[in-house]
Amino acid sequence: MGPLVALCQSLAMLHLPLVALGGCVEVTNFSFVNRCSADVILKDWNVVVPTNTSQQVMELRTSGLQRISWRYVDGPWDTDFIELNGDWKGVGTPFCGHPNFASWAGFSMSSRYEALLPGEEGGERFACADPGAELTFSISSCPSAPTSRYYCDFFATQASIRNCSSGFAIYMQERSWALNPDGSRSRTYNATRNIINYWCAPESSNWLGWGVGSFIDCTQRGAPIHLRVTTCID
Ligand SMILES: *[C@@H]1O[C@H](CO)[C@@H](O)[C@H](O)[C@H]1NC(C)=O
Ligand SMILES: *[C@@H]1O[C@H](CO)[C@@H](O)[C@H](O)[C@H]1NC(C)=O
Ligand SMILES: *[C@@H]1O[C@H](CO)[C@@H](O)[C@H](O)[C@H]1NC(C)=O
Ligand SMILES: *[C@@H]1O[C@H](CO)[C@@H](O)[C@H](O)[C@H]1NC(C)=O
Repeated sequence: MGPLVALCQSLAMLHLPLVALGGCVEVTNFSFVNRCSADVILKDWNVVVPTNTSQQVMELRTSGLQRISWRYVDGPWDTDFIELNGDWKGVGTPFCGHPNFASWAGFSMSSRYEALLPGEEGGERFACADPGAELTFSISSCPSAPTSRYYCDFFATQASIRNCSSGFAIYMQERSWALNPDGSRSRTYNATRNIINYWCAPESSNWLGWGVGSFIDCTQRGAPIHLRVTTCID
């Protein structure tokens, strides 16, 4: 645990305003919307979100704090996930990281994450300047093959992910979208110029020096958010 996270958590326990730090937000609501035609399990929280339902996740977890990970209950066995770049236990605890996808191993479904203004029915307004991201993957467009690990397995190796021009990297890049506050999608956030996914490793010779990560403006503002993850977005 980093000193900043520890400090945030201490402040949260003392009920001091997180805004003073500028580097963390309070997540007042965490909802998981499963639009897939099969049940999904949210790993670490061990919460099953049935097909076509939305769930408020209130529990605190004790493992896997650096990611939000999920998979179909009935497999494939490996998870799609968001990297948080910081520890987060759940609703009510400070969220200090700058999340991104890291899909180089493969995927089983499309997904989106968003920072919304809390307390609004439907919660449709974005909370900051770099508030969301989506992967518009689909099984029908998968450039690879299904395995017991993923519906679309990129058979990643340390070597294969170090090429930003590979077919798999291009597939991921073309389907990785930053969501701007006006709802528009772009390769990089208008506000920060960051991208939202690792479609290849930063060690690649043709990595173009991208900054990676969302919610930088959110954590700088320090205003509370409703964090929403949606699966099977199309
Ligand atoms: C946020 O959580 C509160 C408290 O659990 C709940 O009453 C409210 O409906 C939630 N808001 C949204 C937008 O889901
Ligand atoms: C999911 O919900 C939508 C909208 O309510 C409905 O049209 C659809 O039939 C549902 N699908 C399943 C598998 O229940
Ligand atoms: C990266 O992939 C492209 C497309 O398959 C290939 O032409 C190129 O040689 C690869 N580069 C490296 C460094 O492996
Ligand atoms: C962000 O840029 C896109 C085009 O790249 C544009 O359509 C959109 O309106 C811009 N949004 C903001 C908030 O500037």
